Amino acid sequence: MSDLKDKKIVLGVCGGIAAYKSAELVRLLIKQGAQIQVVMTRSAEEFVKPLTFQALSGRAVRGELFDLGAEAGMGHIELARWADLILIAPATANTIAKITHGIADNLLTTVCMASKAHLMIAPAMNQQMWFHEAVQENIQTLSQRQTVTLCGPAAGEQACGDTGPGRMEEPAQLLKHCISLLKPNQRLSGERLRGKRILVTAGPTLEDIDPVRYMSNRSSGKMGYAIVQAAINEGAHVILVSGPTALAAPDKAECIMARSALEMHDKVFESIASVDIFIATAAVADYRPVNKMNQKIKKNNDTLMIELIKNPDILADVAALPDKPFCIGFAAETNDVENYALDKLKRKDLDMIVANKVGGSRSGRNTGFEGDNNELNLYWNDLLDQTELKAKKLPYASKDQLARQLIDEIVLLFTQ
Ligand code: C5P
Repeated sequence: MSDLKDKKIVLGVCGGIAAYKSAELVRLLIKQGAQIQVVMTRSAEEFVKPLTFQALSGRAVRGELFDLGAEAGMGHIELARWADLILIAPATANTIAKITHGIADNLLTTVCMASKAHLMIAPAMNQQMWFHEAVQENIQTLSQRQTVTLCGPAAGEQACGDTGPGRMEEPAQLLKHCISLLKPNQRLSGERLRGKRILVTAGPTLEDIDPVRYMSNRSSGKMGYAIVQAAINEGAHVILVSGPTALAAPDKAECIMARSALEMHDKVFESIASVDIFIATAAVADYRPVNKMNQKIKKNNDTLMIELIKNPDILADVAALPDKPFCIGFAAETNDVENYALDKLKRKDLDMIVANKVGGSRSGRNTGFEGDNNELNLYWNDLLDQTELKAKKLPYASKDQLARQLIDEIVLLFTQ
C-alpha cells in the first residue's frame, strides 16, 4: 500500500516517554510511501537518540534553529514550505502551550508558525498535567483552529504509574488520521462534513400531567448542543431538534423546538428524509401520562395514581427506516454501562452507540447529565466486516472536546 506516496511530513518529536513510539510511527509512515523529516526538541533527545530516527527516516534529524550547516541545506522556512503536513507526536504540554500562544523559540515551533501546512497534534503527558486548567484552555483554543487536528490522548496506564488520559494515541491510529488528512481531494478541518446533513436530538422532553405539572429528567442538553457545534465547525448542515433547555442554539443550526416525546418524534420525522447522519442525544422520556388533565389536579387524596403509557422510540423508529441515515445512539446508564450499551446497539439496529456512566466514572470524576465534563465509550460495527465490533474510549474531558472527538471519529468512518 502507498496511501501516502510522496507526501511530505514533518514529524515533530517532543520530550516525553512516548517518544519511543514515534520510531514505530516513522516506520509506518515510510511504509506508506511518505517522506519524513523528523524535528526533535532538545528534551526529546533525552528520551530517544536522533540516530534512531535518522536510520528509520533516511534523513538527518533536525533539532537546532541556528544550525548553520542545516540551514545551508533546507532552512527552517524551506522546511515549513516543504511540508504537506506537520505532525507532532508526542506533543508535550510545553510545546502545546507555545503553539497555542505563537511562541517560536525552537526549530519545531518556528516551523509550525511559518508553515501553511495542516498541523496534527498528538498530546502525551501525565494525566494530572492533562487536567490542568492551562492545558485544557490551550487544547480548547487549538480545537477551534481550522488548521489543527487533535488526536487523542488515549487513556490507560501511564509510565509514571498513574492511570488516566494522557497516553499518546497509538501509531497505527495516527497513521490512519494522516492518511485521512492527506488523501487526494481530502477536505481539511472545517470542511470535512461539507455537504452532509446531520440531525441531532438534544435535551430532555417534558411530559405534561396537568396545566402546571410535568414529568421530565435532568438532561441539560449540553452534550447534544456541543455535538451540533462540532458538526457545524466541520461544515455540516445541522438540524437540531431540541427539548426545552437553558442553552442558546448554536449559530448556523436549523433549530426546531419540541416539548414532549411525541412532538419530538413528529419533528424528527418531518426532516429525516434528507439526513445522512442521525445523532440521538436527547433524554427522551420513556413514558407519558395516558391522560393530560385539563385542570390542575387537587391534593384531595393521600395517594394519587397517574397511569403512564410508553413513548415511541424515536431512534429505533429512524433506524428501522428502509433508507435509514447513519444512526448514533447514546446510552446513559448508572450501572453495567457496556452491556446495556451493546444491547441497545443490537436491539435498535444502530451504527454506533455512545455510552456514558451517569453520576460518576471509573476515574472518580463526576460525569453525565448536568456537568460540563464527561467520558464516553464508543462502540460500532466495522463498516466492512459487520460482525467485528470496534470500541474506543474518549477519556474524561469537556463536553466540547468530546463532541469534537466524536465528530472526528464519524469523519473517519465516513471517509474510510
Ligand atoms: O433505550 P434508551 O432510552 O436508553 O436509549 C437511549 C437512546 O435512544 C438515546 O440515543 C435516546 O436519544 C434514544 N431514544 C429515543 N426515543 C426514545 C427513547 C430513547 O430516541 N423514546
